[in-house]
Amino acid sequence: MRSVFDGKSILVTGGTGSFGKAFTAAVLERARPERLVIFSRDELKQSEMAQRWNAPCIRYFIGDVRDERRLTQAMSGIDFVVHAAALKQVPAAEYNPGECIRTNVDGAANVIAAALANGVTRVVALSTDKAVSPVNLYGATKLLSDKLFVAANNTVGRHPTRFAVVRYGNVVGSRGSVLPYFRKLIAEGARELPITDDRMTRFWISLGRGVAFVTQAFERMRGGEIFVPKIPSVRITDLARSLAPDLPLKAVGIRPGEKLHESMVPRDESHLTLEFGDHYVIRPSISFYTTVDHGTDAAGESGTRVPDGFEYNSGTNPHFLDLPEIAALNAAVT
Ligand SMILES: NC(=O)c1ccc[n+]([C@@H]2O[C@H](COP(=O)([O-])OP(=O)(O)OC[C@H]3O[C@@H](n4cnc5c(N)ncnc54)[C@H](OP(=O)(O)O)[C@@H]3O)[C@@H](O)[C@H]2O)c1
Repeated sequence: MRSVFDGKSILVTGGTGSFGKAFTAAVLERARPERLVIFSRDELKQSEMAQRWNAPCIRYFIGDVRDERRLTQAMSGIDFVVHAAALKQVPAAEYNPGECIRTNVDGAANVIAAALANGVTRVVALSTDKAVSPVNLYGATKLLSDKLFVAANNTVGRHPTRFAVVRYGNVVGSRGSVLPYFRKLIAEGARELPITDDRMTRFWISLGRGVAFVTQAFERMRGGEIFVPKIPSVRITDLARSLAPDLPLKAVGIRPGEKLHESMVPRDESHLTLEFGDHYVIRPSISFYTTVDHGTDAAGESGTRVPDGFEYNSGTNPHFLDLPEIAALNAAVT
C-alpha cells in the first residue's frame, strides 16, 4: 500500500520520545522513506534507539530545538517535519517556566524558520488538550506554539511550506504518565492508589492511533488546521480499577495546574470547527491567501459545521471506555 511518506525525507524533532519511537517504527514498517532524521538532544537515547532501528535511511542528529542554526542544518533536503520535541511534565514546567518557554515556544519558532529556510513542504506540530484554555504553564506554551504554527502559514510568501497542528489527549502509557506510575505503585506493594479526584476524566488515545492520525494529517492538510481526533474518554477511577480492582482509592486532591476535565475543541471556537467522520478540524481564525477551502481537505474529505456552542470535552464525551476496554489498552503497553 502506498504511503504519504514514500520517497520523502522526514525529520522528527523529539524522535527519541514515546511518539518519536512509535512513529519511527510505523514509518519503517509501512513506508519507504528516502531519509528519516531523528532530532533530539540526548546521545544515550539516540544510541539505544539506533540499536533497534538502524535501517540505511535513518540518521540520528544531536541537536536542540532552541538552536535555530542546527535545525536549519538538519532540515537541509527535508520534505516533511513532525515537531514532537517538547518539555511536557506539568510540575516541571511550573517550576522552570523559562526553560519550558524556551523549548516549547522558542523551539516552535525555530522549527518554523528552519522549515521555511529549507523549503520543507509540510510541517505537522503536536499539541495537547492542555493547550485549550490553559491553566498551567505547559498548556500555555503549547497554545503559543499552536498559534505560531497556524499563523506561520501567513508568512510563507513564495515558500512551499505549509504548517498544521495535531491536538490530542493523554497517550496511554507514555513516559511519565499515570499508567506507568500506577503500575510502579502496584509493583511496590501499595495498599491504596492515589486518585486526584474521583470525578476526573481524560481523553485517551493509544500511541498507534496518535501516529496514524499524524500520518493522516500529512495527507489531509492544506495549512492552518488544528486536527483533533474523535477519541474516547476514561474516568481516572476506572483506570485505577482496571489495574487493581481490589485496591482502595484515596482522593489526594487536584494538583496545581490540573483540570477535572479536558477540552479539545473549546466552545468559543465552535464557529471555526468542522466535523469529519473520525475527527474535527479547527480552522484558522484569520484567513490566509494560501487558504483554498477548508470545507474539503486535501484528501478530498468534506466536513460540516458543528452547532454553535459545541464543545468537545472529556467530561461530556459520548464515548467512555469501559473496564475491559481500558484493560485491553493497558495490556498493549509494556
Ligand atoms: N504523551 C502525551 O500524553 C501527549 C499528549 C498530547 C500531546 N503530546 C505531545 O506530543 C509530543 C511528543 O510527546 P512524547 O510523549 O513523545 O514526549 P517524550 O516522550 O517526553 O519525548 C520528548 C522528546 O523531545 C526531545 N526533546 C526535549 N527537549 C528537546 C529539545 N530542547 N530539543 C530537541 N529535542 C528535545 C526528547 O529527547 P531529548 O531529551 O534527548 O532531547 C524526546 O525525544 C509533545 O509535543 C507533547 O506535547 C503528548
